[in-house]
Amino acid sequence: MSTPAADTATTVGKINPDVLAFTEGKDPVLDLALAEVDCLGTAAHVTMLSRMDFKPTLFTEEQRVAVLRALRDIIGEARRGDFTITAADQDVHLAVERRLTERLGDLGKKVHTCRSRNDQVAVDIRLHVRNELNALTVELADLARALLALAEAHKAVPLVGRTHLQPAMPSSVGMWASAYAEMLLDDAYLLEAAYKTNDLCPLGSAAGYGVPLPIDRQLTSDLLAFSRPHHNVFYASCARGKDEAVLLAACSQVMLSLSRLAEDLILFSMPEFRYFTLPRDLCTGSSIMPQKYNPDVLELIRAKAALLVGQATSANVILKALPGGYNRDLQDTKELYMEGLRVTRASLRIMRLMAEHLTVNPEACRAAFAEPGVFATDRALELVAGGMPFRDAYHQVRDHLEDLRGMDPDAVIAQKTHLGGTNGLDFAQLRARADALAAQALAAQAKVDAAFAALMDV
Ligand code: ARG
Repeated sequence: MSTPAADTATTVGKINPDVLAFTEGKDPVLDLALAEVDCLGTAAHVTMLSRMDFKPTLFTEEQRVAVLRALRDIIGEARRGDFTITAADQDVHLAVERRLTERLGDLGKKVHTCRSRNDQVAVDIRLHVRNELNALTVELADLARALLALAEAHKAVPLVGRTHLQPAMPSSVGMWASAYAEMLLDDAYLLEAAYKTNDLCPLGSAAGYGVPLPIDRQLTSDLLAFSRPHHNVFYASCARGKDEAVLLAACSQVMLSLSRLAEDLILFSMPEFRYFTLPRDLCTGSSIMPQKYNPDVLELIRAKAALLVGQATSANVILKALPGGYNRDLQDTKELYMEGLRVTRASLRIMRLMAEHLTVNPEACRAAFAEPGVFATDRALELVAGGMPFRDAYHQVRDHLEDLRGMDPDAVIAQKTHLGGTNGLDFAQLRARADALAAQALAAQAKVDAAFAALMDV
């Protein structure tokens, strides 16, 4: 047997290299996405410690300013891609502490006072998720607006409405496209819920049980523009993982909506349908079949919806039967939520391109009405309007389907003037919802950015 490799020296003691590699996992890479927010969290924490009514003073004002300036420089390094997390650092938290200590000596060693990596990582994730969720929400609103523009531009183009994928009743491109816009706007309620439960500050929970010094948790929460601190510090530590799981649940609903939209687009752009033509530059070719323009983008959105459901499920299962308090299992929810956010945002953006550049073929949409059965229900209800009991009308139409040949789909969709019908769609109301959603997310982010600027203004 070969002799085991020597233990690796880390900020928190010597660790067997295999154990170190296994326990840190992908943190040295994944945590790079948290470098900036880790510095902001530290800036708020140190600012709070400097204002604490406690002797001996933990941080004088000069010391606070020195730490915040160094943190500002580290943020600059992170933005330039120059900030690195070594294996010995394990994660971003100890990497930032190492950088501070390299620059500031003993002062850097003080920043972890009254704090644990457990509340530190939890606050980092919440700050990161808040930024990402605001951006994602704007991207969702943009896609909803693109779908509404498509709907309005083709509101009078009839489309065969389907149940069981079989022709059912006349619909319209306006109804089809704005339905997906409305679906996404409803998914945004879930994003909003995820935003609310994410917008809470766990800082000061430390290892999960608070600290014996009079820290001001409300102040750190305010400095970071959270809606409020978590109340019970033990709960604050238990909320790690739950935050990520709730976010993934919301994102997976968004992805399920996109996946269904993708499926419709794949189907309706097949040559056998040709209702729509996908933008060529959003399709990909084949290495052997010269004629090919394939909807790979849409197929991948379908697959990514499956990944999101998997990530949400993985996060839930990590939480199930997890004892209260911090457990290292929680670290593995990090990649899940980061990937989930990345994939959902990328899918929203690519689907928006699809919606903006999709071609609608009105003649193909109308040609699909040649089979007359799709008018049967409308004819039966016409007979009802003439006084016939519905079941009699149903049978009469069923026995004379051929009589429906030649009915005009344009006239039929114009008749449905009731709320939400083909001729009763309130695009303006849906657009107002999308606009309000984007405006709310932009305002929330502006508030966050202003708080960060004020915090770091030293
Ligand atoms: N990288 C760790 C995580 O993501 C940080 C917290 C480590 N805490 C601990 N008690 N080992 O969970």
